[in-house]
Amino acid sequence: MSEASDIDAGTRGRLVGAAREAAGRAYVPYSNFPVGAAVLTDDGSVVTGCNVENASYGLTCCAERVAAFTAAAAGHRTFRAVAVTAPAATRASPCGACRQVLREFVPAGGMLVLLDGVDGVEETDLATLLPDSFGPEDLGG
Ligand code: THU
Repeated sequence: MSEASDIDAGTRGRLVGAAREAAGRAYVPYSNFPVGAAVLTDDGSVVTGCNVENASYGLTCCAERVAAFTAAAAGHRTFRAVAVTAPAATRASPCGACRQVLREFVPAGGMLVLLDGVDGVEETDLATLLPDSFGPEDLGG
């Protein structure tokens, strides 16, 4: 079973770098609040997303969900880590909806969460951000 601690510093740095690059592609004409996210899949792929806003504001999709859905649509099913960055903020942490979407793809070893901020990169994990969560196994299938 692969643990978050197995992810080396180089890979963590690469993931944060990918999230920062993705933030540069954010479509944020309404909030001017770009966010970038990058997920590390079980085969070592890095898949990115940025927030994409809409004139019908409620249809906006967060960076984390764009990254998660893009990775899932490419066939990935477990994410060992996710990095999130919001250059306009001191630090960014995934919203509740994104936590639940990421929860779907947590591997047995857990999902490392890297929160990029002005004071550096804070490390946590999805189980801490979303305790006592509901997941696929709760459906009992
Ligand atoms: N946003 C994200 O992309 N991720 C989050 O976790 C929080 C918020 C986006 C949505 C919206 O485009 C902008 O940030 C302001 O809320």
